Amino acid sequence: MYSEKVMDHFNNPRNMGEIENPSGVGTVGNAKCGDIMRMYFDIDEQGVIRDVKFKTFGCGAAVATSSMATELVKGKTVQEALAVTNKAVMEALDGLPPVKVHCSLLAEEAIHAALWDYAQKNGIEIAGLEKPVEDIGEKEK
Ligand code: FES
Repeated sequence: MYSEKVMDHFNNPRNMGEIENPSGVGTVGNAKCGDIMRMYFDIDEQGVIRDVKFKTFGCGAAVATSSMATELVKGKTVQEALAVTNKAVMEALDGLPPVKVHCSLLAEEAIHAALWDYAQKNGIEIAGLEKPVEDIGEKEK
């Protein structure tokens, strides 16, 4: 039911933990299942994400998607990170079972929330970034 890559990222999550004094931190949840994901970014002066960590209190697919999402945004610019969609995360994991697709939305929104926090802290605007929702369940409707 789960791909090998999903199992691998679930069993050995990459970049799990937190960053002290992050450039941006974002937390999103899904009230329906109660899962929560938090993402921390360390962004340099050039707007490149030099480090990223996550904490996820959630299902296996949420852990695997957050792990893969951190891998996909690491070393990228803020703009490139913004372009990482839940679809891209799923493709990188060789897919998710249909009932678990919504878990990958948490990863996409957690990236946006951390970028939003970074933009707020620095008084900048990131083109194309909308204010993230705290409860991803709202977006599914
Ligand atoms: Fe809630 Fe997976 S079941 S994120």
